[in-house]
Amino acid sequence: MTKLTLVLLLFLIGIAIPLVHSTNEVDEWIQKLHHAKEKVSRLHFYFHDTLSGKNPSAVEVAEASKTKKSPSFLVVAMNFVFTTGKFNGSSLTILGRNATLQPLREMPIIGGTGAFRLARGFVTAKTYFLNFTSGDAIVQYHVVAIHY
Ligand SMILES: *[C@@H]1O[C@H](CO)[C@@H](O)[C@H](O)[C@H]1NC(C)=O
Ligand SMILES: *[C@@H]1O[C@H](CO)[C@@H](O)[C@H](O)[C@H]1NC(C)=O
Ligand SMILES: *[C@@H]1O[C@H](CO)[C@@H](O)[C@H](O)[C@H]1NC(C)=O
Repeated sequence: MTKLTLVLLLFLIGIAIPLVHSTNEVDEWIQKLHHAKEKVSRLHFYFHDTLSGKNPSAVEVAEASKTKKSPSFLVVAMNFVFTTGKFNGSSLTILGRNATLQPLREMPIIGGTGAFRLARGFVTAKTYFLNFTSGDAIVQYHVVAIHY
C-alpha cells in the first residue's frame, strides 16, 4: 500500500464512521416515528430581558438606523435551549411577529431539535414588568409544544 492510499483510506474511515453513526441514529428515530404518539408539553416561565446594570441578560448586537422607529416592530426569532434535566440539549425555535403593543402576543413554534424534533405549537407572551427608561422587561411566557 502506498503512503497516499493509506492516508486516503484513513481519511475515508475517519469520515465514514461518524456518517454511518448519525445515519443510523436518524434511521432509528424515523422507524420509531411510525408508532410514536404525539405528546403535548407545556412550559411556564418569566423571561428576564435585562439590558441595564451589571448583570444584563440581553445584549444588543446590531441595530439598523431605521430599526428603532419601525412602526411594524419587526420580527422575533428565538431559540429556547434546555441546558439541564431530561431535555438537556434539546431546543424549540420560535419565529413570529413582535406585536409589542398587544397585551397578549402569540408566536408560532416552528420546530425543534432533540426531544423536540418536528415540534410545532405556539407561545403566548405577556409583559409582566417594563421599565420604559432602561428598557428592562420581564415577560411571562406560556409555551405549548406538540412533539413525539
Ligand atoms: C420587540 O420590539 C420592541 C420595540 O421595538 C423591542 O424593544 C423588543 O426588544 C422586541 N422584542 C424582541 C423579543 O425582539
Ligand atoms: C447537559 O449536556 C451537556 C452536553 O452533553 C453536558 O456537558 C452537561 O453536563 C449537561 N448538563 C447537565 C446539568 O446535565
Ligand atoms: C428604571 O430604570 C432606571 C434607569 O436604569 C432606574 O434608574 C430605575 O430605578 C428603574 N426603575 C425600576 C422601577 O426598576
